[in-house]
Amino acid sequence: MKTKILVTGGMGYIGSHTVVELQNSGYRVVIADNLCNSKKEILLQIEKITGIRPDFELVDLQNADATLRLFEKHKDLSGVIHFAAYKAVGESMEFPLLYYHNNLFSLINTIQAMLKHDINNFVFSSSCTVYGNPDKLPVDEKTAVKPAISPYGNTKRISEELLYDTVNTTSLKSISLRYFNPAGAHSSGLIGELPMGVPNNLVPFITQTAIGKRDILKVFGNDYSTPDGTCIRDYIHVEDLAKAHVVSIERMAGRKQKNSFEIFNLGTGSGNSVLEVIKTFEKVSGIKIPFKYTGRRPGDVPAVWADTSLANNELGWKARKNLDDMMRSAWIWEQNLAEGKIFSM
Ligand code: UD1
Repeated sequence: MKTKILVTGGMGYIGSHTVVELQNSGYRVVIADNLCNSKKEILLQIEKITGIRPDFELVDLQNADATLRLFEKHKDLSGVIHFAAYKAVGESMEFPLLYYHNNLFSLINTIQAMLKHDINNFVFSSSCTVYGNPDKLPVDEKTAVKPAISPYGNTKRISEELLYDTVNTTSLKSISLRYFNPAGAHSSGLIGELPMGVPNNLVPFITQTAIGKRDILKVFGNDYSTPDGTCIRDYIHVEDLAKAHVVSIERMAGRKQKNSFEIFNLGTGSGNSVLEVIKTFEKVSGIKIPFKYTGRRPGDVPAVWADTSLANNELGWKARKNLDDMMRSAWIWEQNLAEGKIFSM
């Protein structure tokens, strides 16, 4: 039996897929989640996929005492993967203090509790948003971090700086994973993205349009300096992303880190435009997506995709799934949700 890992935010989109990968790799898992953006039923879904029900603790990590109690109860952890954070860019512009409060206090409380119990391996959920609008493509990890456009993005940048300073002065070791654009759902069709309200992100908006929940997709801008005028992103399958977290935990456990704070880009290494994403969805689903062009969305960068050499060569991880896989699995998930196969919405 392998060791026990705490997954904060483990009921969320990337978190739940990571819990599945950890359990399938033999780890015991404790999920800590306040369910602010997820559902309790996800536990059962994880159990259906893996045959194991992970430990679950309903806890808000913004509460330092509750966080300490969590670690008192689970003293035998060998690492923590930290997803618990708010993630909606637009909402963060409206409520910046909520974002700074949740994303930073949860991080600080978790690290302080870890240090108290001499738990030293910490995987952090970061984002390519820290690169802003990059001067050259693809983006590697040496690319300068730019001032953030949104408070959400700023919390990711500040969190990485906080981690950098902490590993330099304590026993903590950390790997920060900068995700490009997570998409798709688990191949079982039993877990996937669960947007609350109207989705902000492209792929859930597409699948909700296909199922009839949304009338029309707005494509934010077709006058960018890209081949078809729409923005380009590096979409990465959530199952591939989840596997990178297991690899990161193994790297730390095996003391293979070159530095106590490492950063890896997680993407496929190539970009697709909004129109290409729509076309790919239409191809795999056989459903036409009604869309119209509207103005650019504030804060969107024209194009960003990853140089994944470091993750491929040093971390030993590579994305295996392509855009077809992402669209196909996202569509199966959306249909399962609509048919009430997952839970009654
Ligand atoms: C954003 C965040 C990223 C975060 C990701 C997932 C920034 C700059 N980016 O990425 O950090 O990891 O969300 O939460 O902070 N689009 C449409 N119509 C829509 C929705 C989107 O045309 O209804 C377009 C967007 O203009 C963009 C692309 O689709 O070009 C992808 O958008 P989205 O899925 O929201 O992700 P990002 O903004 O790239």
